[in-house]
Amino acid sequence: MSILVCGGAGYIGAHVVRLLQQRGEKVIVVDDLSTGRKDRIGNATLVTLDVAASDAVTVLANTMVDEDVTGVIHFAARKQVGESVERPMRYYRQNVGGLANVLSAMNEAGVDQMIFSSSAAVYGMPDVPTVSEDVPCHPINPYGETKLIGEWMMADCQRAWDLKWIGLRYFNVAGAGWDDLADSAILNLIPMVLDRVERGEAAKIFGTDYPTPDGTCVRDYIHVLDLAEAHIAALTALATGQPSHHTYNVGTGIGTSVREIVDGLRRVAGWEFPVEECDRRAGDPPTLIGDPLSIGVDLGWKANHGLDEILDSAYSGWQAGPRPITAPRA
Ligand code: UFG
Repeated sequence: MSILVCGGAGYIGAHVVRLLQQRGEKVIVVDDLSTGRKDRIGNATLVTLDVAASDAVTVLANTMVDEDVTGVIHFAARKQVGESVERPMRYYRQNVGGLANVLSAMNEAGVDQMIFSSSAAVYGMPDVPTVSEDVPCHPINPYGETKLIGEWMMADCQRAWDLKWIGLRYFNVAGAGWDDLADSAILNLIPMVLDRVERGEAAKIFGTDYPTPDGTCVRDYIHVLDLAEAHIAALTALATGQPSHHTYNVGTGIGTSVREIVDGLRRVAGWEFPVEECDRRAGDPPTLIGDPLSIGVDLGWKANHGLDEILDSAYSGWQAGPRPITAPRA
């Protein structure tokens, strides 16, 4: 028996792979290595494959049968809000087309358990301070649209062939559980800030005129290790049947502004690196904070790591990587 992790060599996927391995599970990783790295997956079997490729259904179905796969965790998707506005078809091809291939292969191979990386981006610009899962979904960018379509696809498969599934709606994932698994793709706020600082450039804040306390966007930052634990909890729950909900927020209920993150990184780095205030970025909602009540009740999950651990571990992981930041001499 084994668990197939699509996108398991990526930042979040590799944390889940490591937790699964620590539990003694056999893990098969499918990854195109576009942002993923082989050295992150330990002794897992690697199948190098783009899940959106034309031969993906066959390769995936054969792998599932050969490796006696009982459940799939699907991370393999693109995740940049801004890029999705500029290149929407890339997102539909990869996120919707790729998932369709994975689900088709599962149906063919008789695998009926799926944990799906959904996103808080499905909510769009909710009119409530903290979103619960029953808030209507009105995504405001193609990225969020593709994640919502993914949830619909799984609901359809549930009706058609009894797929058991949980969609975890991630809020803003950051930090590192281990230095070697730190986020090396420069796609989100913290790595983007550290990348610019390392290159001797000012960190950028996109938008300072939002209707938020300090004018910058507010997000719910979740430690990647807590998020990884949520996948284990979801997998465990599915193994004994479908829990009462299909989608769960993985957030903390606490909002932090972009400015607070940047100030926190200055504190951790120990110097006041320069910061540039820029125009708003297209597709950004002002505030997005998740209510984690349901996942606590149904799956017994809660976040155990706070903002300081997120910032400390993200910085430590960055410094252990190929381009550590050197503070200027006083
Ligand atoms: N930001 C900056 N400067 C930067 C990079 C980002 O100010 O250099 C800002 C963004 O404009 C945004 C905030 O920091 O206001 C967070 O941006 P990210 O790109 O890190 O994350 P997003 O909130 O856009 O999206 C992330 C994930 C999505 C997920 C979403 C849920 O990438 O997958 O969180 O809230 F859906």
